[in-house]
Amino acid sequence: MPSSHWWRTAAIYEIYVRSFADGNGDGEGDLIGLRERLPYLRELGVDAIWLTPFYRSPMVDGGYDVADYRDVDPLFGTLADFDAMLAAAHALDIRVIVDIVPNHTSSQHAWFAEALAAGPGSLARDRYIFRPSSSPGEPPNDWESIFGGRAWTRTPDGEWYLHLFDPGQPDLNWDNADVRAEFESVLRFWLDRGVDGFRVDVAHGMVKAAGLPSVGHPQQIGLLGREPLPYFDQDGVHEIYRAWRKILDSYPGDRMAVAEAWASTPLRLARYVAPDELHQAFNFDFLAAPWSAAELRSTIDACVEAADSVGAPTTWVLSNHDKARHVTRFGSPEIARAAALLMLALPGAAYLYQGEELGLPEVLDLPDDARQDPVWHRSGGTDPGRDGCRVPLPWTAGEPAYGFSTTGRSWLPQPDWSSFAASAQQDVPSSFHSLYREALRLRRTFTGPLTWQESPADVLDFMRGGVRCVVNLSGAAVPLPLGSVVLASGDLPDGTLPPDTAVWLH
Ligand code: GLC
Repeated sequence: MPSSHWWRTAAIYEIYVRSFADGNGDGEGDLIGLRERLPYLRELGVDAIWLTPFYRSPMVDGGYDVADYRDVDPLFGTLADFDAMLAAAHALDIRVIVDIVPNHTSSQHAWFAEALAAGPGSLARDRYIFRPSSSPGEPPNDWESIFGGRAWTRTPDGEWYLHLFDPGQPDLNWDNADVRAEFESVLRFWLDRGVDGFRVDVAHGMVKAAGLPSVGHPQQIGLLGREPLPYFDQDGVHEIYRAWRKILDSYPGDRMAVAEAWASTPLRLARYVAPDELHQAFNFDFLAAPWSAAELRSTIDACVEAADSVGAPTTWVLSNHDKARHVTRFGSPEIARAAALLMLALPGAAYLYQGEELGLPEVLDLPDDARQDPVWHRSGGTDPGRDGCRVPLPWTAGEPAYGFSTTGRSWLPQPDWSSFAASAQQDVPSSFHSLYREALRLRRTFTGPLTWQESPADVLDFMRGGVRCVVNLSGAAVPLPLGSVVLASGDLPDGTLPPDTAVWLH
């Protein structure tokens, strides 16, 4: 495979393994199912896939609670299935990025069992963050769990342990040498197997402010929040990535890592992608930006500038497994199509989430008893959580479970998705799938930075190399600029660009 910084311009497709394709009929996506669907991804035209955690896990948080970092959970298959999937992906020229979850383990990890058994003051407890009560019966400080409720759970001997997420996800103590050594070894384990990179979960979380100071107010942060807090984005975390970068660089073949870091500003985020740290960071400012020309333009400029300041590529993302799908967020499939052409014309790497190429909406009406996300349970059912973007993919119209599993089973119920199924969209020129496929193909020819063009109010207009991308966010049609149309997100009647439509021109 060619290997000159492939990640700088790659289109990387996120696979939520449990919901992608089920190869053994149990209603849960797995590595065999994924391997069988790789030709679909080749044909779609992605450069790489990122797999959400498939490691041994009690699945309290969809696998982001890892009990064994060096093994595959039986739900998803075996290490041999992983190796076969990786070889098949590489044979199709698709790179593979795996998730690494270093902020916390599962409470069923061997280390945590050891820590509970060993008691206060033990070396085993020092691998996690155990503390006594601040005053009788009170937790050590006021930190809250991102999933709701307090971030501390009391053990039978009276000490509390910290969990910024679910109680089933105790936070590790990154001042402990065992913890550092263990994750360096885990990185090597997967690099030795041949993975092309890592997506670093909660990359801003591992180092906490000295003394664990209270925040001073409730409702501290939600998923992907950006508020400065004593448990997130502490300077000490960068030392970890400098050590990891040396490991990545010691392997042949241009391995990389992308940070899931929630930082308060683009410049704080850029620190994670300094030349001696990680290669990329997700751009959640872009995901969070409303459908407004002014807001999108200032977000794009700020992100490009921040990434340029450290020589890193920008990244773009509209959807992932933690946020409502953007068709539903924007409230319109037309906007979602236009947003896709905007994103795929920008310089840098683009992250796609499985099913966005089918235009899938968020599933809003899952039955309560089907919901599995701890966000739903810990908020007492006031926050629907993230199950609605994790519903298994529809592959084939007319088949049970739309071809997701061979038996028609599906771990979350699917709505009527006949018209969304891949089979109903492939080779239909007006479909979402055709738009993405064409855009991904053309995108390979785009090079260089972007240059904004003079444009009417609420219209985004920029050149990149020989291509011009124009997006109309105003409420009215505007004249189509001169040039030959390469691709458009919707119809272009009478030489105009209608509202909520994007076009690529030569
Ligand atoms: C990240 C993951 C999310 C998970 C959390 C805790 O934000 O994307 O799904 O719940 O980390 O590991």
